[in-house]
Amino acid sequence: MKIFLDTADIEEIRIAARWGVLDGVTTNPTLYAKVGGSYDSILAEVCKITSGPVSAEVISDDVEAMLDEGRHFAKIAPNIVVKVAMSENGLEAISRFADEGIRTNCTLIFTANQGLLAAKAGATLISPFVGRLDDINQDGMIVIRELAEIFAIHEMDAQILSASIRNPLHVTQSAMAGAHIATIPFKVLQQMVHHPLTDKGIAQFKADWTKAREASAATS
Ligand code: E4P
Repeated sequence: MKIFLDTADIEEIRIAARWGVLDGVTTNPTLYAKVGGSYDSILAEVCKITSGPVSAEVISDDVEAMLDEGRHFAKIAPNIVVKVAMSENGLEAISRFADEGIRTNCTLIFTANQGLLAAKAGATLISPFVGRLDDINQDGMIVIRELAEIFAIHEMDAQILSASIRNPLHVTQSAMAGAHIATIPFKVLQQMVHHPLTDKGIAQFKADWTKAREASAATS
């Protein structure tokens, strides 16, 4: 499963790239609002750090305006993927982007049927929001599992991008449920690295090494 970072924070993206685990990035207006500045400049910078897909979200409601926004983003770098929210106009925009050879990520997916429609319209990436479903006491992983089964049975090319990830368990469950990609907040990526027994083990090895060196120095 590929790992995308769900952030517009350049420093976080640089760190994940240095770790060798970064396959792409997703941004959205909320993530952009946290860092501010020029959205275009941020996207251009992110596209220099990773050659993987970088999602840039359109905010217009009508089709022509979505197309204008998306075409503008697509010119920033070849790895830009235009993020379009699920809606009737969104489906039309996705279909038109597909005709123009512009890749899209259909966002705000909460049911398998929405995902199926987005895939049929020509979206490259389908983003079910698992955390927001869990927030309202529904199992977000069911949508991932259903879409994985539907795409496999019908040999559909769209990739499932598990989004709205809240914790490391969501990542494991997404991988096991058949998501092709999980987009992960930086904090969750850090949580995935650590385990109390790993940290305790590192400290113990260091302490034992120092003790042994001191003992060896004392006897020589
Ligand atoms: C990613 O593409 C989504 O925009 C993001 O994962 C949403 O996450 P949230 O539900 O934590 O805002």
